[in-house]
Amino acid sequence: MSDWFETLEALHAEIWDSVVQGIGNSDHPTRTPTFATVSPKGWPEARTVVLRAVDTEYGTLAFYTDLFSDKIRSLQATPRAALHIWDAEKALQIRMSMHVKIASGDAVKSIWANLPEHSKLSYGVDPAPGQPIKQALNYSKTPDPAAFAVLNCEVLTIDAVHLGDDHRRAIYSRSDDWMGHWLSP
Ligand SMILES: Cc1cc2nc3c(=O)[nH]c(=O)nc-3n(C[C@H](O)[C@H](O)[C@H](O)COP(=O)(O)O)c2cc1C
Repeated sequence: MSDWFETLEALHAEIWDSVVQGIGNSDHPTRTPTFATVSPKGWPEARTVVLRAVDTEYGTLAFYTDLFSDKIRSLQATPRAALHIWDAEKALQIRMSMHVKIASGDAVKSIWANLPEHSKLSYGVDPAPGQPIKQALNYSKTPDPAAFAVLNCEVLTIDAVHLGDDHRRAIYSRSDDWMGHWLSP
């Protein structure tokens, strides 16, 4: 019996298993991936986000954010993102490229309604996220459904690196139905 990192198929399954763990397990590395975008001026920008939903059948992920945060302006200019995860326990790096659609208002009303009250506080800050303030705490938070946005991401490619006794690297693409190919690491 081979290990999960030895075949393209098993590695692909392990990647999605790992990503799914991020939904239920707050300590899992896939819970807080790095989400990178391109700024309107072309600069790379990266930040930590919480993984909120995964659909393994369609290869989609979802994240929540403030509609008035800078990343929204970046995604409006360039609706693409990269995701980075380092799962140290599995010695597995996962990188994804994704198309991103921003949903807000009525489209996310039912998700907002089901958020716990303390989570709603993350959406609705005055002044808006990223605005300069004179003192560190010169802002107020009021839950605001109009500030709540969901980033619906369609995964296009997955680049996986496994650092075991041997190093293995594979690339999977939606365009070839996730068949996968080995790459030199
Ligand atoms: C552990 C952790 C989890 C975070 N989760 C989110 C999140 O789910 N959504 C979000 O918009 N920002 C989240 N943030 C804050 C972002 O990293 C970032 O500071 C903020 O969204 C502003 O980014 P922007 O100016 O690029 O839009 C999180 C930060 C940390 C440290």
